Parts: sequence; C-alpha cells; structure tokens
Amino acid sequence: MNNIKDTFLLDPNITFLNHGSFGSCPRPVFQEYQKWQQKLEHQPVQFMTDKVYSALKESRIALSEFMGCNEDELVFFPNPTTATTNIIFNLDLKPGDEILMTNHEYGALVRAWTAWGKRTGIKIVQQNIPAPLDTEERFIEEFWKGVNVRTKVIFISHITSPTALIFPIEQILARAREKGLITIVDGAHVPGQVDLDIHALGCDYYIGAIHKWLCGPKGSSFLFVKKEHQKWMKPVVYSWGKNGEDPGPSEFLQDFQWQGTRDMSAFLSIPTAIEFYHQEISSLQSKCREMNLHAFSEFQSILGTKPISSGGNWLGQMVSHPLPDHASPDLKEKLWTRHKIEIPVFEWNGLQLIRLSVQIYNQQNDIDSLMSALPSLI
Ligand SMILES: Cc1ncc(COP(=O)(O)O)c(C=O)c1O
Repeated sequence: MNNIKDTFLLDPNITFLNHGSFGSCPRPVFQEYQKWQQKLEHQPVQFMTDKVYSALKESRIALSEFMGCNEDELVFFPNPTTATTNIIFNLDLKPGDEILMTNHEYGALVRAWTAWGKRTGIKIVQQNIPAPLDTEERFIEEFWKGVNVRTKVIFISHITSPTALIFPIEQILARAREKGLITIVDGAHVPGQVDLDIHALGCDYYIGAIHKWLCGPKGSSFLFVKKEHQKWMKPVVYSWGKNGEDPGPSEFLQDFQWQGTRDMSAFLSIPTAIEFYHQEISSLQSKCREMNLHAFSEFQSILGTKPISSGGNWLGQMVSHPLPDHASPDLKEKLWTRHKIEIPVFEWNGLQLIRLSVQIYNQQNDIDSLMSALPSLI
C-alpha cells in the first residue's frame, strides 16, 4: 500500500484521516476532469449544446452499471444536499404527515428537512436508536417503533455520517414497501465503500456522492429516482427542459440535466473514477477494513470508553468512537497543529466523537501516529 499515496493529490507531509468529509482525488481522475474542462473551452457552444449530452449519457451508463440500476433513472447533482432538497420540495404531503428518520442522520440534511417541516406543518421524527448497536433485529425493532399511521416517508442513511455505521436497511425498505411508504436512502458514503445494487434494495430514491469513496472530482453526485416517481419530479432550479432545445427521450432527464450554464466536467469524469476504483481501490479495501477494525479495538483501550456498536458488519472504512468526558475541547486543533493529523472531532447525541476514515492511501503508521498522539492530548 506504500506508493499509492503518490497517486493522490494529497500533501505528502500530512496524516490525512478524514476521507469521509472530503476525500482526495487521484491524479488520473483529476486529469480526466481537467481534460473535460479544456474540451468545453475549446468550442463552448458546440460542447454545451450538443456534445455534453452524449457524454452525460455515457457517464450515466457507467454509473448505472456500477450501481445496479438503469441509466435513465439517474440524474447528476453537485452534491447530496442539492439532490435531497430536490426530493423534499417534490413531496406531496399534508400537515401532520410524518417523515421518519434515525438520530444518526447527517446534520445538514436534518436541518433541510426541519426547515421544510416548519414551513409545511409536516413532522420530522428522529427515532432514537440506542447505542451500542448490536443485532440487526434490534436495530430494525428500535427504528420501526417510530412508524405510525401518520408516517408517509422514511429517510435513512445507508452509511451514517456522525456514527460511521453501515445500517442494514434491506428489511426496513422491504417493510416500508409493504406499507406503501416512500423510501429515500442517503447513500453519500456508499459508492466505492460498499457494494451497491439499487434495484435489489428496492428503494424509491437513492442519493450518493461520487466525490467521497469513489474518489471522483468534487461536485460529482447523483440521485436515483424510481421510474414511477419520475413523472411528478420537477427540479427546484427550473431552466430549459421539455420545451427547450436539449435532445433526449425522457422529460425527467431533460428537466434535470440542464440547470443553466455550469461546468459538468465532474459528472463526465465518473467513468474514469469507476475505472480507477476497479484498477486500484477494490483490491485494497479489505486491508483498509482490517486496519479500521483494529483501530476500533485500539480506540477502546486507549480512550477507555465504550464503543457505539459491536463492530463487525456495522463498520466499513470508517469508525466513530466516543472520547472520555474529560477530553480536551481543542483535541482536533491540537492533533492538527502539533502532529499534522487531520481527523474530525464533534458532538453527537451528548457524546464527543472522533471519526477515523481509512482510504487506500492510508498506512498502518498513519493510524499508529494518531493512537500514540491521543493519550497525551485528551
Ligand atoms: C451521510 C451524508 N449525507 C449527506 C451528506 C451531504 O454531502 P454534501 O455536503 O456534499 O451535500 C454528507 C456529507 O458528508 C453525508 O456524510
């Protein structure tokens, strides 16, 4: 795993343990991104009015094959937040209806749902899933306690951001289907971290980031919308769509793909990101997971606190662990200024958590540096 770090654009003099927030882009993918930007500038009108559409389609085909869905069920967004906002604004619900989510969801999106709930009278319910998370059955049971006759939508992370847990969502989605609930899965951390088959999952909407674990350029994300919902999905940003000049058989794609002038190069680099994944990332992932599991145990002995899950299948390439009550409020700052270690420390549910990410450019000595720095800083 030694030289792979050189393939990334990361500063070689830092210990970067926060791929989960903003991952670094590998050189071949970044070069492809710049190649598209140059193509655009070479003949902007031809590119924007013609060439971009077939290139977008090729990108959608590559991504749909990677994630188990159809090309015309996908639209690109610069990030999961805008993709989710486009779903929120399309939901046709009444005051008093409920959206059920867990207390592990990504804060900015909880904020987006809450702001919309305040305006519409729709209730946002965050079901508490008590830690430590151990069995799948208990997880489902605890989550399902939040379902009642007013529940209309389930919004759930596939891999959580604050707690870095892989949620076993399959049965929740199956039960929701039986009850006719709309299901929206936040899979920002999934593509490139765990295998994904969207059709097999059977959700209504799936949101994913390409610029996290699949190492695409920043600004590459997608929204999957099941065919039956496409007819009533309209973009928050209206531009030329069905009535414009852009070609294409699907009103849904026409409405979403042109959102005014913008640089789509990040979207067009997705096939290269997928190629890089197959060539470089996939074979090193089991090693990353092993390192992560080892860190899960080390955190417990070094920090002396109980984990928030039983480990094992709950973890992929990230782990969040509680800091002791007496931990320094400046821990993140000290790790960076004294040791050049980049790692997030934040509050969640009354706990101070530290979240480790292990990407293929990390080596065991990166984690060792963290573990040896922690005791004197907390
Ligand atoms: C689980 C999850 N969902 C959504 C997002 C939102 O991503 P962005 O801020 O790029 O829109 C993030 C960002 O880290 C995330 O971790």
